[in-house]
Amino acid sequence: MKYPKEYLDEIKTRLKVSTVVSKSVVLKKRGKEYVGLSPFKNEKTPSFTVNDEKEFYHCFATSEHGNVFDFVMKTQNLKFGEAVKQLAQLAGMQPYMFSKQDEEREKKWKEYLSIYSQYVNYYHNKLLKNDACSNARDYLKNRSLSKEEVKKFKIGYIEKNPNFFGKLKDQFSEQTLIDSGLFYLDEKKRVYTERFRGRLIFPINNISGQPIALGGRIIEQLDYLAKYINSPETNFFKKGSNLYNLDLARKLSNKLDHIYLVEGYMDVVGLSKNGIDNVVANLGTSLTDRQILTLNQFFDDIIICFDGDESGYKAALRAAENSVKELKPEKQISFLFLPNKEDPDSYINKHGKDNFIDFTKKSKLPIHKFIFSHYKKQTENNPSSMAIFEKKLRDIAKTIKDDFIKKYVTEFFLEKIAELTPHSNSNNRKFYIKKTKSLASTKRHFNESQSLSGVELKEFSLLYLVMNNLGLLQDNIHLIENIKLFTEVNKQIFELIIEKLKSKNPISKDDLNLDNQLLEKINKFAPIKYILKNKSDNNNEIIELIEDTSRDLMNYDLEYRIQELESKFSKDLSETTFNELKELKKKQNIN
Ligand code: UTP
Ligand code: MN
Repeated sequence: MKYPKEYLDEIKTRLKVSTVVSKSVVLKKRGKEYVGLSPFKNEKTPSFTVNDEKEFYHCFATSEHGNVFDFVMKTQNLKFGEAVKQLAQLAGMQPYMFSKQDEEREKKWKEYLSIYSQYVNYYHNKLLKNDACSNARDYLKNRSLSKEEVKKFKIGYIEKNPNFFGKLKDQFSEQTLIDSGLFYLDEKKRVYTERFRGRLIFPINNISGQPIALGGRIIEQLDYLAKYINSPETNFFKKGSNLYNLDLARKLSNKLDHIYLVEGYMDVVGLSKNGIDNVVANLGTSLTDRQILTLNQFFDDIIICFDGDESGYKAALRAAENSVKELKPEKQISFLFLPNKEDPDSYINKHGKDNFIDFTKKSKLPIHKFIFSHYKKQTENNPSSMAIFEKKLRDIAKTIKDDFIKKYVTEFFLEKIAELTPHSNSNNRKFYIKKTKSLASTKRHFNESQSLSGVELKEFSLLYLVMNNLGLLQDNIHLIENIKLFTEVNKQIFELIIEKLKSKNPISKDDLNLDNQLLEKINKFAPIKYILKNKSDNNNEIIELIEDTSRDLMNYDLEYRIQELESKFSKDLSETTFNELKELKKKQNIN
């Protein structure tokens, strides 16, 4: 049984060749390509290349050459079907179930593509060549869109009384034409009607660049008509799974690590006209997890830039709450808020590309900061409002799937809340913020904690846990005696504590004779204290936290060594370095 082309194409377009190859070969970027040591031959100088744009790998030593499926089949000695299964899983797709209906569906898919491509080509060419479309051309001119954009996005115009249905009727059944969503039966007049008549059409392509749906804009202001309409959902078009312009934008992922996500078709066209092509639009619906995951396959940094009005802000908030759960350590999602009433199209037409890029750099807000500042604005200066605020933020952080990010975002939220409530831990539970003083201290706290690295904070957490559970750890010294710290001062103190713990005499915090300033710093910044608040007398949980912290520190160590080796490898490309690197990466995965 054959896999449908639609399914295989989807796998290929979701997975960059370099993503698949780098699971087993260390790759180094060189220009548009990646190079590495050939997996097909024992070698010391790299002759293996990967080109994501062309979707293949090539080995100059052995002349092995192919796509992602070939690579997995050859390197793992798998049959085609097994490779497909493995890659589908990596791409986050369901395994393919063969059934009798598959052949039928494959046939329908081909018909669907044919209908859409004929339709799009016909009306695009007509707009380009036919003077009868003068009102549409005037409209484009008014919006200063040139032939170049019309061609790039294959924009078309459907006249008011079109009859493409008649032209397609000989090739396809009436049902098939109706199923495409391009036509519907006008019950009153008993005629088949074109849904997009009187509209400019923007073809929505699948990731391989084939049109599978349309967006259509009216060019005459008529109140009883929606400004934009989209193809209805069909067997082959699901709004939440597609993004406008992804087929073109994804090709830039070799050069750029960020992508703009905007609301409208015209925002995409407007940015592109001004030289920004790494942009996609969601299709008039709210952002889905699938869209985020798809974008993350190609880009590390998603910049969501919706319209600068209330509905744009609300959509951004919905997008933030929806996508925060998909945050991954190496990925970022940020938000860019435009001045009042502007949308990306109007902004860039007014201010130009450089200004837009500058504006992005200066104003984009990471997702966790946006969420925090939004809910902070809703919060009043009283305990019940603060409690709701904290609960809301905790609930949002809880939805994050990646444990590391979850911890980080939770710590960020709690730390920011603590800055707002500097006295909530003292005996005086009354809630107040002394404006001037707390602003200054907030700033100081911010500056101080900014200057601490992630590792240092982790080390503080460990020291905090140890200092506050000396008895427990004296009995369980094996849990901590081999932990490696990085920062010189912390390391010394840690070694001193271990030594004292081993001395057999019960010790207390005072016996440690620690420098007061350092103690203060640890007490202030150790992020763990927020997690610890409610658990401080449960030994099992303390031990779990110590194990977590020690694992994190071990991973820092591995990460550090991997980085060192990677930079060494990029210079010497030697097999020994490569093997060492492989070992370390394996260890990192086990942790
Ligand atoms: P906007 O109203 O912001 O459109 O809707 P726009 O991009 O600024 O368009 P112009 O500049 O007026 O031509 C943004 C997106 O919301 C969806 C469309 O996908 C549109 O691109 N939308 C809008 C609809 O689906 N229906 C509508 O009636 C309006
Ligand atoms: Mn708009």
